[in-house]
Amino acid sequence: MIKASAYTFKILRYDAMKPESSPCFSTYKIRVIPGLTVLSVLIRIRDEIDGTLSFRSSCRSAVCGSCAMVINGKLDLACRTQVAAFDTDTIILEPLPNFEVIRDLVVDMTPFWTMYEKVQPYLIRHSPVPEKELPQSEAERLRIDQYVNCILCACCYGACPVLARGPDSDYMGPAAAVKLERFVLDSRDERPAGALDVVNDEKGVWACDTMFHCIDACPKDVRPTDAIVGLRKAMVKNRFQKMLGKAKNEA
Ligand code: FES
Repeated sequence: MIKASAYTFKILRYDAMKPESSPCFSTYKIRVIPGLTVLSVLIRIRDEIDGTLSFRSSCRSAVCGSCAMVINGKLDLACRTQVAAFDTDTIILEPLPNFEVIRDLVVDMTPFWTMYEKVQPYLIRHSPVPEKELPQSEAERLRIDQYVNCILCACCYGACPVLARGPDSDYMGPAAAVKLERFVLDSRDERPAGALDVVNDEKGVWACDTMFHCIDACPKDVRPTDAIVGLRKAMVKNRFQKMLGKAKNEA
């Protein structure tokens, strides 16, 4: 018979619609069998104990990226984190850092999506649309492999020390860089070199402190700092090519 163990769940609660209230922890004692995820427990608390508890989830399979939160001090997806994996019987759940909290574990993702939209995260082409498809070689696909795995959960955004400096940092964040690099490296993409200008300033890729916290936080093993460094290199290369072209024209 599978044995359930008792756990204490402490969840940080706050309702932005009631600004007079301060954030505080609600505590729930739950018996958990091995294999149960943090998300399963949250759903149980909401359905059976406290219907006011708010959190986001959808796929329950670490695919949609909607259930990211801080679990015992670590940014992760609630649907892929097993309760029994911790060597403590107390699980503390908090909303993603670097975002405004709307309610409990639900944060306002607007700044994240604004930056995402800014980098035009889709294939841009000027050549005529082929009749069938745009094939890629294995090597070409490998170049974008890690970036394709990004599920936009915003763990990297929550872990970013530059964004932690507050809204004034206005930094684009690691996920937007990942998406831009994913398309810049895509053999089928034909965006002009000038398309990088959108992140070529002190609010863009040059703001990154290269602390690698985003790499540690990513639940899908994407390395956002690689994307940021890749974009920086591409910008420097573009600049040199422009200068060389100008020098040739003047000679
Ligand atoms: S519910 Fe989709 S990633 Fe967790």
